[in-house]
Amino acid sequence: MTECTSSAPVIAIDGPSGVGKGAVSAALAGSLGWHLLDSGAVYRAVALAAEDRGLGAENAEPLVALCGNLDLHFRAHSGGISVLVDGAVVDDRLRSEAVSRTASKVAAIAQVRHALLALQRSFRQPPGLIADGRDMGTVVFPDAQLKIFLTASPEERANRRYKQLKDKGEDVILERLFSDIAERDRRDRERSVSPTVPADDAIVIDSTSMSLDAVIERAMAHVEAKGLGRS
Ligand code: C5P
Repeated sequence: MTECTSSAPVIAIDGPSGVGKGAVSAALAGSLGWHLLDSGAVYRAVALAAEDRGLGAENAEPLVALCGNLDLHFRAHSGGISVLVDGAVVDDRLRSEAVSRTASKVAAIAQVRHALLALQRSFRQPPGLIADGRDMGTVVFPDAQLKIFLTASPEERANRRYKQLKDKGEDVILERLFSDIAERDRRDRERSVSPTVPADDAIVIDSTSMSLDAVIERAMAHVEAKGLGRS
């Protein structure tokens, strides 16, 4: 029998790129023992699979078909979670700036977003789900028990991303990164479907001058205030 999943609690962690959603979400999921959905990785996987098939981000129809057949798996290991597309581990390519750009274009297509809803909602399993993205609290899980929207200045986000990519050995130029992030932010914020905006009932945390630990602590305080977590 399939388990009824709709009552599993969800904590939505939304916000623009480079704001620390991934690290905060992983910390919450680890400390609560809940499942984790990295919805950005889902859009990135579509972008990567589209690139591999020579599909552009202009035509919705083949992209929607691709979403229906997406061979996407997440594999947990001691160092985190690996993403497999078409059976291959694609962690490094998935985070490249080229895939970031395509993902943001693909994500602006309403039919693509719609085609990915069921897949994202299938992650809602007991004991609970931390859902990381842009529209977790507004569209995918509007009934989430707790919605946190993280913000930080574009300069700070570009700096954080620069360090991340440099650490991975990617050759990046800060100014280019900043303008790419600004462009992606604008597309994500101004698109007509699921724009990156806080839900009306979201708690907004500006992390510009906060350490990651401080943001996690603040988020955990909200989790506890809601009585969520290990019983
Ligand atoms: O969060 P991340 O940077 O990995 O997301 C990659 C892209 O996927 C974003 O720029 C955004 O356009 C898109 N995205 C989205 N909705 C989500 C998650 C990501 O539109 N829930």
